[in-house]
Amino acid sequence: ITTQVAIMGAGPAGLMLSHLLAKQGIESVVVEIRSRKEIQETVRAGILEHGTVNLLVDSGVSDRVLREGDRHDGIELRFNGESHRIDFKDLVGESVWLYPQTDVFADLAARRETDGGDVRYSVTDTTVHDLEGKPKVWFTDADGQEFEIQSDFLVGADGSRSHCRRQVPETARTQYFHEYPFAWFGILAEAPRSADELIYANSQHGFALISQRTETVQRMYFQCDPKENVAEWDDERIWSEFRKRVNGNGFELKEGPVLEKMVLPFRSFVHTPMRHGNLFLAGDAAHTVPPTGAKGLNLAIHDVKMLFEGLDSFYATGSTALLDSYSDRALDRVWKAQHFSYWMTSMLHTVPGADDFDRARQLGELHSVVSSKHGMAYLAESYTGWPTGNQF
Ligand code: DHB
Repeated sequence: ITTQVAIMGAGPAGLMLSHLLAKQGIESVVVEIRSRKEIQETVRAGILEHGTVNLLVDSGVSDRVLREGDRHDGIELRFNGESHRIDFKDLVGESVWLYPQTDVFADLAARRETDGGDVRYSVTDTTVHDLEGKPKVWFTDADGQEFEIQSDFLVGADGSRSHCRRQVPETARTQYFHEYPFAWFGILAEAPRSADELIYANSQHGFALISQRTETVQRMYFQCDPKENVAEWDDERIWSEFRKRVNGNGFELKEGPVLEKMVLPFRSFVHTPMRHGNLFLAGDAAHTVPPTGAKGLNLAIHDVKMLFEGLDSFYATGSTALLDSYSDRALDRVWKAQHFSYWMTSMLHTVPGADDFDRARQLGELHSVVSSKHGMAYLAESYTGWPTGNQF
């Protein structure tokens, strides 16, 4: 198979890139080791920045997000038993959309299929070669047939356990890690909405997040030990943990049967530069953020936008300038998001072993945000997504 851009990974990053390239007449082939069904059924986060929504709609992927997603003009920060609303629209004139990542994937996969895109799910034995020259991808397809893809460029959009990333020589990259002493216990529950907007709650019993999915299914999380075993948590134990963290002062969570439960790991990771020869990394393959603030998918889509501009400009004019600045342009936002996710995490979670000083200082931090228009505006701008400009 000969193509212009070979893409490893058919998650939102890989499919969005393939879609944008196709619109400009640039060929790509996407290979993915998971089945379409498996990706479709993996529960992920649910908040889209306005820039992500605009790209989905304006590039013609789908406008379903506008019809079926919920626009949220703010969030609530809850601490000391009181709720404080951060009004995004009022503070920065922007909103976010509650629209699950699985729906983003479904829209992209359907669009690529309708447009005749070459996306191979359920492949095995993938290896990549000649990253510094004309990259090649070897794989075996779902029917057991072996292929070689020859391409001008290879894009590693193959997730946090990226095979592509691991081919970059140690001497050619720097990696940054940060571990956190907790994780999230996430559930899907059959219950009506407890609130119109998301609630990020800090309490002496730890953090909780009340999010939503539909009229009848809700998504919620509470801070837990990274080694927590979901089998030891029945519904009553789960709800009693949520009650301790969010109920009070007239607010009561609506409860119901727990449909799914899982532990989400917490870590921050960045691999730089996001390019090696003709290999470009995008999304989780290059960076992971903790879930607080839901930046993962949004960052991946931003990477793809930057990378698309570079590839489009190269094929249109022969100039490599935007490909050469891809890593710097993407990392500018990656580090902003790393800081924002870390900040929201540290401001809202309880560190095991925290003393009275730590607790009082944290409340001081929360008060300094919600009592200041500037503090709230910083949160609102980061949460809804920084404006994209040509920083370089
Ligand atoms: C969701 C996940 C997040 O990490 C977040 O910050 C907000 C919402 C969600 O799954 O709905």
